[in-house]
Amino acid sequence: NTVYIPRDSSAISLGANLVAAAIAKEAESRNIPLNIIRNGSRGMFWLEPLVEVATSVGRIAYGPVTTDQVASLFDAGFLDGGQHALSLGPTEELPWMKHQERLTFARVGITDPVSLQDYLAHDGYKGLRNAIDMAPQDIVQQVTDSGLRGRGGAAFPTGIKWKTVLEAPAEQKYVVCNADEGDSGTFSDRMIMEGDPFVLIEGMTIAGIAVGATQGYIYVRSEYPHSIAALNLAIKSAYEAGYLGRGILGSRHDFYLEVRRAAGAYVCGEETALLESLEGKRGLVRFKPPLPAISGLFGKPTVINNVISLASVPIILDKGSVYYRDYGMGRSRGTLPIQLAGNIKHGGLVEKAFGVTLRELLYDYGGGSASGRPIKAVQVGGPLGAYLPESQFDTPLDYEEFGKLWAVLGHGGIVAFDDTVDMAHMARYAFEFCAVESCGKCTPCRIGSTRGVEVMDKIIAGTDPAKHIALVRDLGDTMLNGSLCALGGMTPYPVLSALNHFPEDFGISKKEQA
Ligand code: NAI
Ligand code: SF4
Repeated sequence: NTVYIPRDSSAISLGANLVAAAIAKEAESRNIPLNIIRNGSRGMFWLEPLVEVATSVGRIAYGPVTTDQVASLFDAGFLDGGQHALSLGPTEELPWMKHQERLTFARVGITDPVSLQDYLAHDGYKGLRNAIDMAPQDIVQQVTDSGLRGRGGAAFPTGIKWKTVLEAPAEQKYVVCNADEGDSGTFSDRMIMEGDPFVLIEGMTIAGIAVGATQGYIYVRSEYPHSIAALNLAIKSAYEAGYLGRGILGSRHDFYLEVRRAAGAYVCGEETALLESLEGKRGLVRFKPPLPAISGLFGKPTVINNVISLASVPIILDKGSVYYRDYGMGRSRGTLPIQLAGNIKHGGLVEKAFGVTLRELLYDYGGGSASGRPIKAVQVGGPLGAYLPESQFDTPLDYEEFGKLWAVLGHGGIVAFDDTVDMAHMARYAFEFCAVESCGKCTPCRIGSTRGVEVMDKIIAGTDPAKHIALVRDLGDTMLNGSLCALGGMTPYPVLSALNHFPEDFGISKKEQA
């Protein structure tokens, strides 16, 4: 009898540990031998804790399970897939799961995340085995040909970044994973680290071999203790089995890997501030150039990529660049793990090929707003992303299509708001967020964000909106063009998109705006 109960933070926060303990106790009292596997989350947060049982016809799901329902689940024979009020049927047949294209998340929710055996049994380390026998240039070429672009948000071609590091001569190079996932409504990095840490470790090892780096660091935000624990367990097993360390799998390649706990500042997700922090200094943004690819950690050439970018590499090296590139549209190739959050009925993780529309995500997957009211706007790409109104919901998820709307896909986070939201307050919040999180190095961001809050307060109070809106636009222009990094430079996205799409919330009509 095998039962799966997620160890993912989202499931734990909804009682998964208590449910796991209750199921173990109930089985013991009934003298039923039970193997409980703490898997990753399937990404259907409204059904967590989602309990699955392995049966002869595949996994059968029950959820959301509470401790007081455990005895009745046993009474109903759930270990054999018996019917119960919480029965959801075969997990893979649930509409949410059925139509996804899970490449990066292929194993999440299926395997025991910290079992190397299970990872190997589910195609794990096939990409690394291929990479070990390849010339570094060929590995980099595969990644370039796959069309993979940085999933942290900036969408820079991963292969080109790696090529820069490969061609930079140095005795020591580094691979750094940016796991300082800070965007509002995002959790795909966390779900990978908790649900399939080996895929990230494998991706980083391949990156190390590709560029000639022997040391890797995973910089994980301090709010992710379960990710840190899962990574450390997986890293330990990888060392013991020869997948990390000296002479990986008997080859001439060495790769060492460590987890570093972040200090908890949003700006430390900016790559150069992250490197400063990793070096033990205050998280201040560095001037670019030089790019980290040329002079990064401790002044050495450094590959710095987001979790999802690195976790997408093993499948590319396993199945080939063409396999990956065949998914997607335009210049956005492959899949994107999309995170649905905010005022949404069914929040969670959907991995789809680029090209899926916002409307499909919000209604077919998300089921509309949680409040049942119309969705007025969505913010895509974190707190620095633009707001999109209903008229733009048919936009396909594609970096260039979003760019045309003066919006960003960012890290793939979508936060929904219903028609009770006041967009002037959201614009004020964007400035306030920037003021709180600013590293203070440049004036447009440090001073501009605080001035922005003051001007928004006047607009919200109804004091001469036309004059103050002109000031907000002027300030937006300065921050956009004069800030050193994306924190100050992108704050105008939420502010000005809110203003452009919802001028009535700022006290002026659409006509006056025009
Ligand atoms: P960027 O466009 O300056 O750089 C993108 C990446 O490409 C960097 O790693 C840079 O070093 C590299 N690069 C650029 N030219 C290169 C070359 N010729 N050779 C090698 N590497 C090269 O963007 P930035 O400032 O790094 O990131 C901004 C983005 O971060 C935003 O679009 C935003 O969506 C995202 N973001 C993500 C967050 C998250 O939690 N994941 C939080 C906040 C922002
Ligand atoms: Fe620091 Fe803000 Fe300037 Fe970025 S834009 S360097 S966070 S002050």
